[in-house]
Amino acid sequence: MKQAPKHPVRLERQGSIALIVIENPPVNALGGAVRRGIAAALSAAEANPLVTAIVICANGRTFPAGADIREFNQPAQEPGLGQLCTMIETCSKPVVAALHGTALGGGLELAMGAHFRIASTDARVGLPEINLGILPGAGGTQRLPRLVGAELAMDMMLAGAPVSAGIAAEMGLIDRVTGGDLREAAVAFARELSMPHPTAEQRGQFSDANAYMAATKARRAELKQTGQASRAALKIIDCVEAALLVPIETGLEMERAAFEECLRSPESQGMRHAFFAERAAAKFPEDAPPRDISRIGIVGGGMMGAGIAIACLQRGFDVTLVEQGESGVNTALERIGTHYERAIAKGRLSEAQGAAALTHLQLTTKLDTLGDADVIIEAVGEDEELKLRILKEIGDQARQGAVLATNTSYLDLMRLAQATGRPNDTVGLHFFAPAQVNKLVEVAVHDDADASAVSTAQALVKRLGKVAVRAKVSSGVGAGYIGNRVLEAYRLAADILLEEGATPQQIDTAMRGFGFKMGPYQVADMSGLDIAHARRQSSPRDADARYVEIADKIVAQGWLGQKTHRGYYVYPEGARDGVPNGDVLKLIAAHRAENGITEQSFTEAEIRDTLLLTMVNAGAQLLTEGVAARPGDVDTVMIHGFGYPRSRGGPMFEADTTTPALIMRRLEALQAQAPNLWTPAPLLRELARERRKFADLN
Ligand code: CAA
Repeated sequence: MKQAPKHPVRLERQGSIALIVIENPPVNALGGAVRRGIAAALSAAEANPLVTAIVICANGRTFPAGADIREFNQPAQEPGLGQLCTMIETCSKPVVAALHGTALGGGLELAMGAHFRIASTDARVGLPEINLGILPGAGGTQRLPRLVGAELAMDMMLAGAPVSAGIAAEMGLIDRVTGGDLREAAVAFARELSMPHPTAEQRGQFSDANAYMAATKARRAELKQTGQASRAALKIIDCVEAALLVPIETGLEMERAAFEECLRSPESQGMRHAFFAERAAAKFPEDAPPRDISRIGIVGGGMMGAGIAIACLQRGFDVTLVEQGESGVNTALERIGTHYERAIAKGRLSEAQGAAALTHLQLTTKLDTLGDADVIIEAVGEDEELKLRILKEIGDQARQGAVLATNTSYLDLMRLAQATGRPNDTVGLHFFAPAQVNKLVEVAVHDDADASAVSTAQALVKRLGKVAVRAKVSSGVGAGYIGNRVLEAYRLAADILLEEGATPQQIDTAMRGFGFKMGPYQVADMSGLDIAHARRQSSPRDADARYVEIADKIVAQGWLGQKTHRGYYVYPEGARDGVPNGDVLKLIAAHRAENGITEQSFTEAEIRDTLLLTMVNAGAQLLTEGVAARPGDVDTVMIHGFGYPRSRGGPMFEADTTTPALIMRRLEALQAQAPNLWTPAPLLRELARERRKFADLN
């Protein structure tokens, strides 16, 4: 854990204006020492007769981005952030908060405690606590509605997404926006403030006739959308209602109690784990400086290649996209064009922004245009011969020093890297569909990869606003990186339950009940059964490995899922939700009879536990092999790549709610049925022997 600097807050003076300057890198989080420093500086400034007004500002990249989340599991330190905000609010001299960077959570609450707020044009402000399973706990639920009205306040807290300084000013949250020097502008603003400033009492006197209605509407919409409103969301709504009905002191007490309850909840613990796991995953052992990147070459303009191109264009890269023949180019252009048309229609982009983005795209059939690309990503179909050929051509065309990447999900990375003729410069960049939306990219590193090639790939992922997870692969280690290996185990376990007596809808219901948006068979129908079928057919299989033929028999009927309106479910024309496919149920029953399998019944809990156990074992196997470096990396992949519920922290985090010894015992009970799936991974044995948990390895 990083130590906070000894003196993270300084009191400075510019004539009659006192400046409280926060400096606690990297994000000026409001830990105990910072809060004490602000409180002491505020008291000193208030007591100094030469000071007429006070500015609170921060050095470094941002105004405080929130409370220090790392302190949430530690004993409380005085003053609490809530107390500090009240101290600021009740200060007898005007206080101006000067915001830059990302003023989030407790940072924005601190600023709302101040009497005025000035922000630089590029600042962003928000209350993202809901993403950590909590609510603003330092007065945000009481002060934001008083500043912007109940409805906007609720929207902002329920969405958890920051807004720009300009929008915040329109809302009434920010008093001034400056494109010039923020500190100078804040001091000038403070000098104007000899006039009385709004007091806590004045802020308390507000009424919003429609607000109560808005609160109820928001509560209902939230319930409808999630089917099961999150605890933090409901508490936010309750607190905003309180802000409308009771004095601020009572509202603050209610908020505090709600905050404490959410903080202790398992979902907040899971979400906080996910937050830190994601950031730990982004730390790679390769510390070589990344190479410069401005142009990205992409070969293959199918769904994946086009998605990657959009992701790159969105972040301002120049893109050269190579497709085969005129029709390939046209289809890719249509895909990308449709994306921008939709974004414009939905108001996410202006026409001018859409047109500007497309000027950075070069679509061509010629691989020899890739000579000026800094990173070239191969994204053609998952066919080894094709990929080997394309990668060789990419290697022939790329300039010296370019980083080459393949988007393969299963093929032997080492072999593909060698095909380029420059394996040291080649890595795997495994994007997840839809690549323009999904935040996960596995950066696959083979034994001969150069550290700077890896750092460059990692830097690219970060600049795309995505989450990078490193997967270390060596020839001979199981195919697929982290996500697909866990997924494959999960699917096989589900198929075994199916073969033994469960139905697709029972399994899907169990996993939805756990928090997945879709169960494994809904996902299979959506992705197309032929894809997984082709993969199974092409991969080598041990003769004694447990294999379930049901999916192959369904494919043999021509039922490929949503695209043929028939798969594990039947999809009436125009419907996205399926109804159980009676023919599949018959096919499964016949399959059991043929193989002499006596149908068993499973409870939802048994189904869920078996599938979770399987994911944990697959994760432990990846850690044993060194493919994944930390249990949190597996969690990050499963949350972003496969919709594992974030509020549960990921399978490896969840595994620590029990013990490795218990997990082993349960696996051993299953092992004989499918040794390829359920033999406990060596790491599990080791942890059980040493009485350690997965968290000890993060
Ligand atoms: N507390 C402690 N550490 C934090 C932190 C926080 N609130 N926010 C970020 N950090 C740490 C990260 O863990 C990371 O540390 P390492 O370098 O050791 O991994 C470092 O700061 C940099 O963070 P990022 O890698 O995320 O940097 P970025 O530039 O990509 O993003 C950010 C910056 C937008 C501020 C992002 O870090 C972020 O979203 N932070 C969380 C903001 C948040 O949720 N604030 C609310 C906190 S809860 C609260 O305030 C409760 C309350 O009401 C009292």
